[in-house]
Amino acid sequence: MNKRILTGITTTGIPHIGNYLGAIKPALNLSKEYDESFFFLADYHAIIKNTYSEDISKSVESVALAWLASGLDVEKSYFYRQSDIPEILELSWILTCVTAKGLMNRSHAYKAATSLNTKDVDKGINMGLFSYPILMAADILMFNATHVPVGSDQNQHLEMTRDIANKFNHIYKKTFVLPEPIIQDLNDTVPGIDGKKMSKSYGNVIPLLSSEKELKKSIAKIITNSLEPGEKKDTKNCTVFKLYSYFSNEDQIKELKDDYMNGIGWGDAKNKLYQLINNEIAPIREKYLELKDNKKLINDLFYNGSTKVRPLAKEALDNIRESIGISDIL
Ligand code: TRP
Repeated sequence: MNKRILTGITTTGIPHIGNYLGAIKPALNLSKEYDESFFFLADYHAIIKNTYSEDISKSVESVALAWLASGLDVEKSYFYRQSDIPEILELSWILTCVTAKGLMNRSHAYKAATSLNTKDVDKGINMGLFSYPILMAADILMFNATHVPVGSDQNQHLEMTRDIANKFNHIYKKTFVLPEPIIQDLNDTVPGIDGKKMSKSYGNVIPLLSSEKELKKSIAKIITNSLEPGEKKDTKNCTVFKLYSYFSNEDQIKELKDDYMNGIGWGDAKNKLYQLINNEIAPIREKYLELKDNKKLINDLFYNGSTKVRPLAKEALDNIRESIGISDIL
């Protein structure tokens, strides 16, 4: 059997360094080891959390450009918008009907949202959030992915996908491959400029597709302690040092460690960090600037993606519909 990786990117924000280090870069590296790679923009997942239409369309475009600019080879992989493959939504309903409600009650994401409520536990919670894992299962099972690279926060969703697939296989006939997660956490979370996990919702991101000036400005805003130049500094729990280590080799890490011992000033340390990040993302920025105003290119990208992927989805769905007793009109 072909080894097929598949992963989705929820399009709720503008890509930042954390997305690049935690998702884009490792997925592109992994794709070299697998027979086939499916990468898609999970825009129907995005509308669960974000109802601003403009945010969604902007995010879809900028995330797509970030992947392209970072070296995604669209000839060698399948790259598409979830919303361009309506078969996924059909499958999602079919899977909904074999999914135990109790299984969804146990979802961490749903439980985390209800735990914030006091009187009415379901206040502000839509059915999209509740059924989120089923749509995700449909994304994966639609193409019988064998391996799914995700962060550890998504591990439960993969377990649920396997559960749902098993249940379907058992009730009807063996249809779905049970996918394996590839947990690809960085040893540590990528910190944002305030030291907390880099995340759009904390407003602490360093954008990936920024100009040199913007990048410099973001880095200048990283919070440090108030030690003066000449005073010895600690590399532990230091945001500048942590970010630096994601972009450097061992020699470079040792160099900055020595600098900290020798009392490097924060301005100089940040400058070193800037140089390093900029070196890595300069080619990405260049490619992005080349592509960004080319609406036709983005349109063609989505068009070609859906043309390549939809026939696979249709064929699989025909088979699934037949299993459940729903056939095409002749
Ligand atoms: N839930 C994933 C996340 O937030 C995104 C996603 C949607 C996904 N569908 C998927 C990931 C299918 C892997 C496979 O990160």
